Amino acid sequence: MYAMPSKSTTIEHLHNTAVSKPEGSPILSGRDLVSINELDAEDVRTLFATAAAMKDDLTPFVGSLAGKSIIALFEKPSLRTRVTFETGPTRLGAHVMYFDHSQQRIGQRESVKDYALNLERWVDCIVARVFEHRVLREMAEHASVPVVNALCDLEHPCQALADLFTLSERFDTLEGKKLAYIGDGNNVCHSLMLLCAKLGVSFTAVTPKGFEPQFSVVRDALADAKSTNATITLSHNPDAAIGHDAVYTDCWVSMGQDHQKALRDGVFDCYQLNEELMERITEKGNDWPYFMHCLPAHRGQEVTDEVIDSPRSIVFDQAENRMWVQNSLLWHMLADAPSA
Ligand code: CP
Ligand code: NVA
Repeated sequence: MYAMPSKSTTIEHLHNTAVSKPEGSPILSGRDLVSINELDAEDVRTLFATAAAMKDDLTPFVGSLAGKSIIALFEKPSLRTRVTFETGPTRLGAHVMYFDHSQQRIGQRESVKDYALNLERWVDCIVARVFEHRVLREMAEHASVPVVNALCDLEHPCQALADLFTLSERFDTLEGKKLAYIGDGNNVCHSLMLLCAKLGVSFTAVTPKGFEPQFSVVRDALADAKSTNATITLSHNPDAAIGHDAVYTDCWVSMGQDHQKALRDGVFDCYQLNEELMERITEKGNDWPYFMHCLPAHRGQEVTDEVIDSPRSIVFDQAENRMWVQNSLLWHMLADAPSA
């Protein structure tokens, strides 16, 4: 969508204070991102094109969000999400405020509705990491400004966008590629499955019995997969990941599930991504599939050092790309909107 800035534009830019206008128009003005379901494949392709343009040269976008304020509400801990949502938009000229909600959940001091109706008077966008998906839905229903899901119990859409963008950097096309997720059928698994289905990437979720992805998510993914020829496969056997282009895992106990630690203990052991499993799922004569993880990793649990530190691991590219896809997302949501 964007004509890459020519070298001369870039050099001129470095020597000149004038900020050129990025080409292309924002496509998500006034929209939320609570679930991957809210995006279609074309939206995602545009988001990726802008993210790639920004990563190649941010210069034309510098200052594009000047005057915009973003509030980032966190009920749970974070490194990547917090830092990328603070440093990224700051590079575009926006002002980001971090609000610690670890001691008092959103909706506790005043209703989610009243909270949203206050915030929309001061800020241009609400980014929130919450325990309950329903809180984001309520916030999005009442706030007139965009609400972005920075992780909840059901989904982690910004992560999935960064992940598929990272894979897109490795292949000419994503269509027809195969991603296997091994571990807990959790929020990260859900957003990945939904996004893969939209982009024509076949997705295999391998989980222990009782830890499968949620039915409603599988149903939505299957509906999208029909039109992209992707397959959605559920299995309890790690061998179902044989021949996939990338294999992904996440923690076995997510934030907010600490009370289930005993219940989960030992259940996931044969789903550990170690050298033996990587060899087993690699077709003869091929390299290991790319290894992916949203991080934080629990080394020695869901993944061993040999795998996460191997040349096939792209986990830090995923972490870096959180910033580029989120900047793209915010630019598409806010660049055209009048400031609060
Ligand atoms: N992947 C991810 O969301 O990391 P944080 O929990 O550190 O934000
Ligand atoms: N599934 C994990 C992801 C952390 C980024 C959690 O929700 O804790």
